[in-house]
Amino acid sequence: MTTFILNGQRVDTDLSDDTPLLWVLRDGLDLTGTKFGCGMGLCGACTVHLDGEPVRSCSTPLSAAAGKKITTIEGVDAVRAGKAVQAAWQKFDVVQCGYCQSGQIMSATALLVANPKPSDEEIDAAMGGNICRCATYVRIRAAIHEASSALA
Ligand code: FES
Ligand code: FES
Repeated sequence: MTTFILNGQRVDTDLSDDTPLLWVLRDGLDLTGTKFGCGMGLCGACTVHLDGEPVRSCSTPLSAAAGKKITTIEGVDAVRAGKAVQAAWQKFDVVQCGYCQSGQIMSATALLVANPKPSDEEIDAAMGGNICRCATYVRIRAAIHEASSALA
């Protein structure tokens, strides 16, 4: 049995320790906002927060989540920076097809929690592992600056 806190709620699961966290979330708990992209830790679509740190849930085993707090896109608006990021995303109409965007928002939120006033270079460094096939990168960067200003 593995226990963790998911978006503020305690979860107990008897899935095996080596089950990828992404599978636990999507198939075990029906939280399908977190997306499967590459399955190899290379695209960022599956990004969630583990004790506030962005991690690739496709390549994070369930055992790594034991006793920790997990935040997914479904719960990120409980984080002040997450709420600001979502508002900025809407204001700048960032989303195109949308597939990568849960991961983008999770990474952007973690960035702003750690660094409330990131430079362009710091944004590029923090977001570099989140791939967007629709190339929304310019709007993502603008929206992160907007969220940063809203949080000031
Ligand atoms: S699906 Fe996890 S990094 Fe691509
Ligand atoms: S919005 Fe389509 S992949 Fe990013």
